[in-house]
Amino acid sequence: MDLELTEVQTRVRETAKKIAEAEIAPRARDADRGALFPRDQIRALAKEGFLAMLVPERFGGTDLGSVNYSLAMSEIAYACASTAVTMAVTNMVCDAICAWGNDAQKEKYVPRLASAELLAGSFALSEPGAGSDAAALMATAVRDGDRYRLDGSKCWITSGDVAGVILVMAKTDPAAGSRGISTFLVEPSMPGFSVGRHEEKMGLRGSSTVTINLDDVSVPVENRLGEEGVGFKVAMRALDGGRIGIGSQALGIGRAALEAATKYVQADEALAKKQSIQWKLADTATELDAARLLVLRAATMKDAQIPFGKEASMAKVFATEAANRATHAALEICGEAALSDALPIERNLRDVRVTTIYEGTSEIQRFVIARNLLAEA
Ligand code: CAA
Repeated sequence: MDLELTEVQTRVRETAKKIAEAEIAPRARDADRGALFPRDQIRALAKEGFLAMLVPERFGGTDLGSVNYSLAMSEIAYACASTAVTMAVTNMVCDAICAWGNDAQKEKYVPRLASAELLAGSFALSEPGAGSDAAALMATAVRDGDRYRLDGSKCWITSGDVAGVILVMAKTDPAAGSRGISTFLVEPSMPGFSVGRHEEKMGLRGSSTVTINLDDVSVPVENRLGEEGVGFKVAMRALDGGRIGIGSQALGIGRAALEAATKYVQADEALAKKQSIQWKLADTATELDAARLLVLRAATMKDAQIPFGKEASMAKVFATEAANRATHAALEICGEAALSDALPIERNLRDVRVTTIYEGTSEIQRFVIARNLLAEA
């Protein structure tokens, strides 16, 4: 077991840190305060190949794999969690297209997502009546000659108003449960596609989160991703990988809060001598380090093509809950100083909250872990 980063991994992390410091951190406060979508930041990530890290070079990706992706994601999230989630969903969409798509689909969409010509990718699974119980979704896709007609509504869709392509899960056979779901590559210019409500969120305010309405959207058959009926598996596999990304995002946010609190304490000799403060710092650092190891284990397994769903859920539940505790501890350590935006902690605390909810709640992660344990026993 090797706990040292390789030369390539060190380089990827340093590159991410450099972009984060130069292009992303200086704009993070304004993106949050003004709810400004981080367009320029996304373009800066594209220049370094960070929007398509999990896909082959021949489709515009960097093929760096999940460990490198996790390292980069944490550095970007350290600077700006809104930019990080946009990066996370685009990487997940590129990964899913390459895992399930044919060459024509990969060639049409992935290079343009990688270069940010299509500014972002979106993943449209959740609906007003289908969040944790994703298979209960109601959107339909009815075959009509060489097209499908899509109807329904999708909610809490990251980047849904700026995305160049949206993976939409819809039922092609409503009587077949999860086996009746298919996935479609939907473009926003397709007639009948519209963006509804923009969510005004407590955190990740720079990222956009919208409702999408599908009103008889006509989608060519060649835009179906995978066979009819495999759409639920497309979504679940994408989320297994996505959960490594969100665990990594949470790690970056938690570390930002911890480092801000540590510097604050270091500057005040009396505070630094208090055992209660030292213990909070120590527990937080230890938990985040344990979380980092769990996230990197899941990423290593994914790269080695070993089944990693249980480990991704373990990493996500532990990292996101630890990062939530880290931001609260940082706020308690710094007291009122952390309530203003002179320190990043109040933004970190607001940004990290959703990480135990999206891409599968903590309860769903525990369900996945327990189900795997029972199946293995
Ligand atoms: N990989 C591949 N296939 C999988 C799978 C996985 N990880 N998990 C399940 N499947 C397959 C099963 O093998 C089964 O296949 P068969 O029918 O061939 O046997 C099929 O899918 C149905 O499986 P289940 O019966 O286990 O499905 P379920 O209805 O019990 O649901 C669940 C399982 C884990 C609860 C799932 O609904 C789930 O993950 N829910 C959470 C949804 C979620 O994470 N949503 C996030 C929204 S996206 C988001 O937040 C993105 C963003 O913008 C930031």
